[in-house]
Amino acid sequence: MTEPVLEVEGLVKHFPVRGLGAKGVVHAVDGVSFRIGRGELLGLVGESGSGKSTVANCVMRLVAPTAGAIRLNGTDITRLSRRALRPLRRSMHMVFQDPYSSLDPRMTCGQIVGEPLDVQGLARGRDLDVRVSQLFDRVGLRDELRFRYPHELSGGQRQRVGLARALAVSPELLVADEPVSALDVSVQASILNLLRDLQEELGFSCLFITHDLATVEYLCDRVAVMYLGQIVEVAPTRELFGNPKHPYTQSLLSAGVVPDPEVQRSRTRVVLEGDLPSPLEPPSGCRFRTRCPLEPRSAPQSHDEEPPLVDVGDGHLVACHLVRRGETPDLYRPLEVAR
Ligand SMILES: Nc1ncnc2c1ncn2[C@@H]1O[C@H](COP(=O)(O)OP(=O)(O)OP(=O)(O)O)[C@@H](O)[C@H]1O
Ligand SMILES: [Mg+2]
Repeated sequence: MTEPVLEVEGLVKHFPVRGLGAKGVVHAVDGVSFRIGRGELLGLVGESGSGKSTVANCVMRLVAPTAGAIRLNGTDITRLSRRALRPLRRSMHMVFQDPYSSLDPRMTCGQIVGEPLDVQGLARGRDLDVRVSQLFDRVGLRDELRFRYPHELSGGQRQRVGLARALAVSPELLVADEPVSALDVSVQASILNLLRDLQEELGFSCLFITHDLATVEYLCDRVAVMYLGQIVEVAPTRELFGNPKHPYTQSLLSAGVVPDPEVQRSRTRVVLEGDLPSPLEPPSGCRFRTRCPLEPRSAPQSHDEEPPLVDVGDGHLVACHLVRRGETPDLYRPLEVAR
């Protein structure tokens, strides 16, 4: 990989919580490391509560990390002051899940899109209007919508405004946290297509967060799978979908809906038992052990030792005791017909 645009190393975010007279710490993110290369789209998947948004918010410095390092183009931004961060705000931008609450309701859509250009001193007056018009055109919005307020637009249109705003300053890194999951299914595809076209044209890197595997397969170059605050598997998209190794990834894929009914019938489904354990008290050793159907095979090591994320070849990393011992989990085997 060429020099990464984003490098996250050993990221930890703990939220102290108080309640019912007890004190505790939510282990939202616990030692997450990954890199995103220039022009690369990395998908971050995992079920609700696994810590995906917390990773995104730490990268954007919307919350302060407890430990670890975040480097943007080689510059450590983990502890930079707000002031020192300001010029770097040009390099990374975020698109949020909820286009209803993430756009300032008191500003017109044109002002919303133009604001980052203004703040960064990149355009003023007539220039600014022209740039905003171009951006509206680029994301497929009618020009007159510049003078409308967010509440006058549909959800899909608002998310286009969010994208135009994020891309206004030509960022190198776009962090998109479930950008389409609040939208109608019919609108989701058009926004994803737009994102893909824009990425091809502008070449930005992207951290794309979702819990939808189909979206990741369509959009991303590489995928990282999170479970309870940690990454359990990372691989190039084709490899992850064609040769998943972690029992958690395998169960996620086996539960996925396959459009071909023939394939659907001939495949076994692994249903994960129980809910995600409490991030207040994550299980010892392997965090997935309490729900892992193969756990008896890895005990007692699974109780005592946290499996490290190990490269098994070709940039495929897995954190599983069984895989490390050379016993590949076999909860799911992608069928050739499905590919
Ligand atoms: N400000 C906070 N204070 C306390 N706990 C928090 C805070 N923010 C997040 N958490 C907790 O951290 C964990 C990870 O949350 P996070 O929002 O990152 O998950 P997620 O993977 O984005 O989930 P979802 O798919 O539902 O968006 C959760 O248990 C959540 O309750
Ligand atoms: Mg989230």
